[in-house]
Amino acid sequence: MRQTPVYYYSSTSGLVRAFAERLERPVLNLAEREHRLSEVDGPWVLLTPSYKTGNPANDTIPEAVRRFLSSPVNRRAMVGVMGSGNRNFGTHYQMACREIAARSHRPVLFEFELAGTPWDVARCREVLAELDEALALAHDAPVAG
Ligand SMILES: Cc1cc2nc3c(=O)[nH]c(=O)nc-3n(C[C@H](O)[C@H](O)[C@H](O)COP(=O)(O)O)c2cc1C
Repeated sequence: MRQTPVYYYSSTSGLVRAFAERLERPVLNLAEREHRLSEVDGPWVLLTPSYKTGNPANDTIPEAVRRFLSSPVNRRAMVGVMGSGNRNFGTHYQMACREIAARSHRPVLFEFELAGTPWDVARCREVLAELDEALALAHDAPVAG
């Protein structure tokens, strides 16, 4: 069965990368130019931290994520969004993940703080495995009508 790849952004502190690398599936770092400028070949999931910048728009979406989502091919094939954040940011908690999900009409599949706990990793693996199965079924289903 196809394992839905996770495209993530992680800054130099590497918290999201530490989480992503424990998911036991293909994960691609959008901090790398090669991945940031690529186009997907099937369904994929976004994993993004939120970074409050203090600019007037209170924008929290990392530039690399924005760049990757500027491709219509990538936007269309995105099936869900996951977020890493920090509750200390109050009303801005998980803002990037939630905003992208709302704007693209895709579900928030999973949220965790910082690099996540071992429980978070285990639960996220389950969520993604369920997604793999649902996508495989959808792919095999005969077209109605
Ligand atoms: C300058 C700065 C701004 C941040 N802004 C937010 C925020 O608005 N909302 C949130 O939930 N987390 C916020 N965070 C927390 C990060 O999203 C969180 O620590 C994440 O795990 C960082 O991932 P990374 O180390 O892979 O870049 C902020 C962290 C920093 C350092």
